[in-house]
This record gives sequence, C-alpha cells and structure tokens, in this order.
Amino acid sequence: MNGHLITTELQDGILTVQINRPEKKNALNTAMYGALADALLRADAEPAIRVVLLCGAGDCFTSGNDIADFINFPPTGPDSPVLRFLNAITATVKPLIAAVSGPAIGVGTTLLLHCDLVYASDTATFQMPFVSLGLCPEAGSTLLLPQLIGHQRASELLLLGNSFTAMRAEQLGIVTMMVPQAELMQTARCKALQLAAQPAAAVRMTKSLLKRGTLDKLQETGLFEIGCFLERLSSPEAKEALQAFMERRKPDFSQFD
Ligand code: COA
Repeated sequence: MNGHLITTELQDGILTVQINRPEKKNALNTAMYGALADALLRADAEPAIRVVLLCGAGDCFTSGNDIADFINFPPTGPDSPVLRFLNAITATVKPLIAAVSGPAIGVGTTLLLHCDLVYASDTATFQMPFVSLGLCPEAGSTLLLPQLIGHQRASELLLLGNSFTAMRAEQLGIVTMMVPQAELMQTARCKALQLAAQPAAAVRMTKSLLKRGTLDKLQETGLFEIGCFLERLSSPEAKEALQAFMERRKPDFSQFD
C-alpha cells in the first residue's frame, strides 16, 4: 500500500526520487523513510546512477515527519527506517540534488543541508518548527546549520521556528538558486544532466573531500540528537503540541516548566 508513496525513475544516469503523498502534503511515514533509504543505498550501489534528484509531488516538497506516526510509531532504535534514512543521507557517496516546490518543513528543510545542490521555486517555503512542537532539531542540523549560517541566524530559525521564503533561503545559502516555479524541474534536471556527464570518480572524490572535515562529527552529532529527540518525543510538551496539531488547535504550553 505504501509502495507508491516514494517513486523512483532512472533515466540518463539520474535517479529521480519523488515523494508522492500529496494528499498529506508529502508527510513522511515510516515506510516512506525506508523507501528513501533504500533509494539512496541503491544509488550508491549501481554504477549506472550518477546523480540522485529528490523532489515532491504536487504543491509541497514535504511537510516533514508524519505527525500521527510521531505519536503511534516513534523510532525505536538504529534499525528504524527514519534512522536508516538519516544515516544514508549523511553518508551517501553519489551527488544529491533537491528540487523544492512549496513547503519544506522539519526534516524537509534539514535534509537539504545534506544535499549538494538545492534548487527552489520562488513559491517554496522553509520551516524547522521542532521547538514549537516540543521537540529538538535532528539530521545533524545543530552542527550543519550554524556552520552554514552562523549561530545567531541558526538560533532564530530553530528556536522561533518561523517559516521563511525561498529568497531568504537563497540568501542564507540553504538553497543554491531560486528559480520561477515553472522552471524548477527543468533547471534541476539540466543541472543533474550536467553533473551526470562529469567524470563520476572525480565527482565522488570531490564530494567526499568536501565532507571529509565534518563527516565523523556529523555522524556523532546525528546520533546524539536522536537520543535527545526521542527523549523530547515522550515529553508532555511534545504530546500537547502533536495532539494539538491533530485536533487543529493551538497548543497550550503554559502548564509546563
Ligand atoms: N503529518 C501528518 N499529516 C500531515 C502533515 C504531517 N506532517 N502535514 C500535513 N498533514 C495532513 C493534514 O493533517 C491534512 O490531512 P487531512 O486532509 O486528513 O485533514 C492534509 O495533510 C493537508 O494538510 P493541511 O494542513 O490541511 O494543508 P495546508 O495547505 O493548510 O497546510 C502545511 C500545509 C504543510 C503548511 C501544514 O499541513 C503543516 O504545517 N503541516 C505540519 C508540518 C509539521 O509541523 N511537520 C513536522 C515537522 S517536525
């Protein structure tokens, strides 16, 4: 039943991976994380795949983790699909391009920090509302984000959790280039084709050199964050925030210290 929620297509050396659950704003459930992890591992294993292009179906990139899953199927250990996905995207060897249209929320934004090229439509929006949900950031973002944009700007995005525009994301360097919505997929495919035509071993070595200085620290940070995240997930604050989302009401944190 979940098989079609992540679709893959290999053409011209480009593995296009599409998040395909538009009726839920491409929210990622457990099975979808597993399928994304499998797609990244497949890309590393198959020489015919030169580049991975990640995109979302419909008017959203992804609204992040499925909030009902946070409540019903929280990650349990290192074999959890979400952790397999985070490990895969942290260590993937092949170049990864994202094409972002519409909202990219939670892991929808933090996964972009692992991509090599990020193209966003002028209508894309970004948000990391972990704290607003009583949670804490993940996917190595507490290391990668301040490294990319500095402590204060990272703090503003993570502590306040406000949504920000594609233009702001481009200014911050989270997005490589903002393009008109109608040109998004064409631009991303064009860059993917260009990358696929580059000498593959040189591309792989350059990507690994670019990551060499941070990879160990990133893996250690990712693991530490997950421990904190799981602790937060069972907190009364998170329970209130997640329940409030399901009930379409504002959360009330006033009773918690
Ligand atoms: N998890 C589970 N379901 C989600 C979801 C998520 N992360 N995001 C959206 N949905 C569901 C909604 O519950 C709704 O389902 P329903 O039609 O069965 O009621 C459907 O997708 C459409 O969402 P809706 O909120 O009505 O669309 P919108 O256009 O008004 O808003 C978003 C879109 C993405 C801005 C909004 O849904 C949102 O903020 N989602 C939560 C994002 C979030 O906090 N993610 C977790 C980050 S850690």
